[in-house]
Amino acid sequence: MATAYDPPVDTFLAVTSKRDTRSYADRSIPNDVIERILDAGRVAGSARNRQPWRFLVVETPERRERLAEAVYAPDNVLGARLVVAIQSSSAMDVGRCMQNMMLAAWNDGVASCPNGISDAEQALAALGLGEDEPVATVLTFGYPARERDPESRPPEEWSARADRKPLDELVERI
Ligand SMILES: Cc1cc2nc3c(=O)[nH]c(=O)nc-3n(C[C@H](O)[C@H](O)[C@H](O)COP(=O)(O)O)c2cc1C
Repeated sequence: MATAYDPPVDTFLAVTSKRDTRSYADRSIPNDVIERILDAGRVAGSARNRQPWRFLVVETPERRERLAEAVYAPDNVLGARLVVAIQSSSAMDVGRCMQNMMLAAWNDGVASCPNGISDAEQALAALGLGEDEPVATVLTFGYPARERDPESRPPEEWSARADRKPLDELVERI
């Protein structure tokens, strides 16, 4: 089927080459890429298809500064070109949603990092939200400061280089 979107990165290559990245280039992210990132979150599956999330795209500098004070690594937020906070109390659903967003971003060459919340009240206040649902995570995005080309290695090599436990420590065939 013909499509206007020509994905630059194969899915398995995107999965294996993605690393959480905290330093971003001084280059803005085009709107169509931002829309794809958000849409990738929107289409994530969730238990009973409840879609228990809200996405807050944090644009105003004042809000960003206040939000930076509510995460463990403030510089990730201050240096990002796109900041998306996800409000939800469903950790499993948010996991799927945020990984969708980050992989869709990486497919367009945009790096990212999830950010844990160090001050839950401050995070809600920074975003102007009520206390009914917590801020589950803050995702920071930007083109990587140090360029990395997924296509420079096959997926098997990215996988072997990843700082992860080996499969034989994780998998039991029973
Ligand atoms: C739920 C969760 C919370 C995280 N919180 C932070 C954080 O607060 N600050 C940060 O810099 N990285 C954070 N990370 C990123 C992890 O440090 C990262 O996934 C791990 O070190 C692997 O990094 P790599 O993909 O670059 O190998 C978080 C990751 C997850 C899944």
